Amino acid sequence: MTGAPKGLVLAGGDGTRLRPLSFAMPKQLVPVANRPVLLHALDDLRAAGVTDVGVVVGDRGAQIRAVVGDGAALGLRITYLVQDRPLGLAHCVRVAGDFLGADDFVMYLGDNVVRGGLAPLLADFAAGRPAAQVLLARVADPRACGVADVERSGRIRRVVEKPADPPSDLALIGVYAFSARIHEAVAAIRPSRRGELEITDAIQWLIDHGAPVGGSLFTGFWRDTGRVDDLLACNRELLATTVHSVRGDVDGASSVRGPVRVEPGARVICSQLVGPAVIGADAVIENSYVGPYTAIGPGCVLAGAGVEDSVVMESTSVRGVHGVIHHSILGRSVDITSSPPEPMRHRLVVPDQSRLEIG
Ligand code: G1P
Repeated sequence: MTGAPKGLVLAGGDGTRLRPLSFAMPKQLVPVANRPVLLHALDDLRAAGVTDVGVVVGDRGAQIRAVVGDGAALGLRITYLVQDRPLGLAHCVRVAGDFLGADDFVMYLGDNVVRGGLAPLLADFAAGRPAAQVLLARVADPRACGVADVERSGRIRRVVEKPADPPSDLALIGVYAFSARIHEAVAAIRPSRRGELEITDAIQWLIDHGAPVGGSLFTGFWRDTGRVDDLLACNRELLATTVHSVRGDVDGASSVRGPVRVEPGARVICSQLVGPAVIGADAVIENSYVGPYTAIGPGCVLAGAGVEDSVVMESTSVRGVHGVIHHSILGRSVDITSSPPEPMRHRLVVPDQSRLEIG
């Protein structure tokens, strides 16, 4: 192979752990720092010189296509690959077989945030020419992940998916580099106990057949955004590098501290902003407080409200709410208002599987 590998981004799956947010949108489109998780992954690929990218989508592919399009705006050439049912990561490689052909490729889980992991992985892959090179990170509870048993040389001896008795604390995280040998492996393996074709089993098949598999230790920020707390951690991490810029309107009665990005058309009136934070286009913040690590989506309205350490998605409004909404995720077009002064009584319209904590 010459030049950059192809990219394979996985954007299917049901997102059960992220309900109720994932009822309305695929988990890969949930915004962190006002940009869908998936676009952060595509940005990383582009930055590593990977431009020919297959995106595996499931039954909500239309929503993904509406956001990503043909990739031209991102400097990519995107090919959509449809997976009928979420049958596992190795199944995605099978689905992408024709697109990938005999080329090397890098597989990136579209719901993962891996900051700065791609370049070192691809460098190790190019230097060692193994059949596969995987990114590894030390985790507190490896039983929730694929886990690697690694020799001192960096060569992997064994990998196992979600082991009850982990051989190490080194988890396989969301990015993998493969040579075309992986196709033989994904064709050979059988579904796991959870009924999926596991990429971990395909990698073990390579090892069992004498193919070298390397591990690259990653010590930077990594999260699978499958759960709410991890999503908020990603939001904080990505907002931490906010570059201060005010392209909207901030009136003289407002104060701004720390880096805040105020997008065009946004209006900040008589309010307090404390960065890092981002205020989306055409949002209105009036008599309100926006605290650190908050992403306010486009078209939102805060009036007499406080929000910090949160993700507020587009077109949502919060009006006249005492206290501060914190460590929270509000979906799109949510409407939160104060209730009339009837102490200890709350009026709620809440969809299935929502989570509310009322103080
Ligand atoms: C998948 C992989 C697992 C890997 C994890 C990283 O798990 O099967 O090996 O450690 O992604 O996010 P899943 O998200 O399907 O539980």
